[in-house]
Amino acid sequence: KSVAIVGCPFSGGQPKAGVDQGPIHLVQAGLIDQIEGLGYEVTFDGHHQFEDVSALADPPIGILKNPRLVSKVSKAVSEVVKQHASNGKIPVTIGGDHSLAMGTISGTLSQYPEAVVVWIDAHADLNTIETTTTGNIHGMPVAFLLGLSTLPEYSWLPSSPPLLTPSKIVYIGLRDVDAGEKALLREHGIRAFSMHEVDRYGIGKVVDMALDTVNPARDKPVHLSFDVDALDPSVAPSTGTPVRGGLTFREGHYICEAIHETGCLVALDIMEVNPSLADAASVAQTVAVGCSLVRSALGETLL
Ligand code: ARG
Ligand code: MN
Ligand code: MN
Ligand code: MN
Repeated sequence: KSVAIVGCPFSGGQPKAGVDQGPIHLVQAGLIDQIEGLGYEVTFDGHHQFEDVSALADPPIGILKNPRLVSKVSKAVSEVVKQHASNGKIPVTIGGDHSLAMGTISGTLSQYPEAVVVWIDAHADLNTIETTTTGNIHGMPVAFLLGLSTLPEYSWLPSSPPLLTPSKIVYIGLRDVDAGEKALLREHGIRAFSMHEVDRYGIGKVVDMALDTVNPARDKPVHLSFDVDALDPSVAPSTGTPVRGGLTFREGHYICEAIHETGCLVALDIMEVNPSLADAASVAQTVAVGCSLVRSALGETLL
């Protein structure tokens, strides 16, 4: 049992300062000791150093902000995640903004081509170059992974065929999906369980249904990508794009526990903790929730 922490102090996929401090706060809160306490051997080589990217000349492409920076960082993360996975470790990537998932998921899929993605988020992060209204690339990683957006600057990410296909991803927690993203979900038949389905069926049934769609025999590796804004802002206030009506503390942890119980988890992302947003108590609460989600996904039980 071995985990590799990939600390990614990166904020270039969105405009708010501070999300790059998320991983530092989680590690300072004792995340590594906590994971070791669950019986894992933990590797942590220090937070990722994204060398010489600040010097990058990076004018917008269309309205996309920091397009080359985001690409370069995600490519580096992809290689690190793949390396850890190939050594039999579970990469636990701590963000940083969710654009990093281009790196983490491509890294997982290059090691485990049959892996499926469970994406927990208030947002679909499915905007393409054509549909994005903000130009913030943290709202776009799934489109790049699916090959729906391509740019020469992202040619390291295979697009034909893409590493990720629509049948290999499922969403839980959605409640702020842009019009263009709704059209893409329909057009590509991407399965999604919004907060409406969580209300209707309860989280237990929703996780079963979500796994039935992407992993019916529970035999495929699972990459869990958890954006803390999936949680209600009363649970995880310190995040850049909070949306009311989110998952409760227990619903969020239940998802992680249930994925752990499948025995299929091969990689985990905890994204979008921004310790510079909200008061000190809210920051401490959000950081603590980030740590406890990781523990649940790695097998911490209540009894
Ligand atoms: N849909 C919006 C956008 O494209 C918000 C995305 C928020 N994404 C996130 N990872 N928090 O900008
Ligand atoms: Mn390492
Ligand atoms: Mn989100
Ligand atoms: Mn997200």
